[in-house]
Amino acid sequence: MAQKYPKIWKPFTILQDASEPVKVLSGKGLYLSLENDSKVMDLISSWWVNLHGHAHPHIAGAIATQAQKLEHTIFADFTHDPAERLADAILDASDGVFQHVFFSDNGSTAVEVALKMATQYWQNKGESGRTSFIAFEGAYHGDTLGAMSAGSRSIFSEVFNHWLFDVHHAEYPSTWINDADVEEKEARSLSQIRQLLEQNPRKFAGIIIEPLVQGAGGMRMCRPIFLEKLQNLAREFDVLVIYDEVMTGFGRTGELFAFKKVGTQPDIICLSKGLTGGFMPMALTLTNSKVFETFYSDDALKTFWHGHSYTGNPLGCAAALASLELMDDARKTFSEMHNWHESLSAPLDELAIVKNRRICGTIAAFDIKTSDSDGYLNVISKTLKAQFLSKGMLVRPLGNVLYFMPPYCITKVELEEVYIRTHAILSEL
Ligand SMILES: Cc1ncc(COP(=O)(O)O)c(C=O)c1O
Repeated sequence: MAQKYPKIWKPFTILQDASEPVKVLSGKGLYLSLENDSKVMDLISSWWVNLHGHAHPHIAGAIATQAQKLEHTIFADFTHDPAERLADAILDASDGVFQHVFFSDNGSTAVEVALKMATQYWQNKGESGRTSFIAFEGAYHGDTLGAMSAGSRSIFSEVFNHWLFDVHHAEYPSTWINDADVEEKEARSLSQIRQLLEQNPRKFAGIIIEPLVQGAGGMRMCRPIFLEKLQNLAREFDVLVIYDEVMTGFGRTGELFAFKKVGTQPDIICLSKGLTGGFMPMALTLTNSKVFETFYSDDALKTFWHGHSYTGNPLGCAAALASLELMDDARKTFSEMHNWHESLSAPLDELAIVKNRRICGTIAAFDIKTSDSDGYLNVISKTLKAQFLSKGMLVRPLGNVLYFMPPYCITKVELEEVYIRTHAILSEL
């Protein structure tokens, strides 16, 4: 008897609305091969994780070699070379901003760890009242309860609102090319935050932000100057700064990390997605000695009681190390891609349905004007997905926000072809 319901419960999917999933047979570089003999360009790096292209032999080889040596081991009381080497490599890459690495498994847990670390930092210093955070409207930090609390309230969190802890969401000064109001928006956001900090000087543990680009909230971009001013404000009122670089890390903004591009020094950053080049689920939360030393104690109450079974998994570490080894070669593309996007996307401005064109490093985004309201549930996303797929391109618009975030193996010629096809699709809508 045919089953009425699909056996696999798909993530982020309105079940009754869902079309039959497309089966992927294999991947190579920019391309995914599908079961109907077609090939598509992966223009979203498979949920923003893939950096160097699919099935990259260097990373695949590193995992295979490691798997034959040590696949996993308990990480409390024990350590291993891949984790030691990865910690050294990542701290090195942070130019001395961070001195300590905490391992977990995915972006949400990296954020969860950061929020708990920041809260307990104040507790360990004798300020147990600092349990709240300042975050931003439009933020997405993941789907676990702490990460959802930090995220903007939305349909994603609606059902669980009663469980979410107290977080104040300030305006995110989202901007785009030729935005005349950006300074006003930045000033308004900073003034909201100043007011919160002045009114409640001992309430907040920290400020958490997706630096330069809010991902799932609609590829909303802010200027580096805003992050500089935000850091100054945080220092003035002595609250911690957490950068959620789960999406922006590993070259996405045109620099290895957004904090390096901006020149700021957050107290904690969260990394995942591109960490292993898209091969293994793994995350890191990095912090500085100021935070770490408040935990360095023989007091069980000052201990960070957090960990996961797969913490520091050697295969994940091997993948991350191999991916980092490829970063020098990838740098040329990820640092140049901003210019490629800028020149190739400019003709889209001719189309009346395109607004708010914006670019940050390897990420380009556009809002599509429709009669429906802007946002994640805008139905144009379905039409766009289908149209792009039929033209050999994998995209997953965030409602009426169309964006491209390709892996770094894409060539300028391929990106040019993407924009030619995009222009044609959007002209017909
Ligand atoms: C900025 C940011 N933080 C956290 C997350 C959550 O990561 P994960 O899906 O790996 O739990 C995401 C995922 O999209 C993200 O974009």
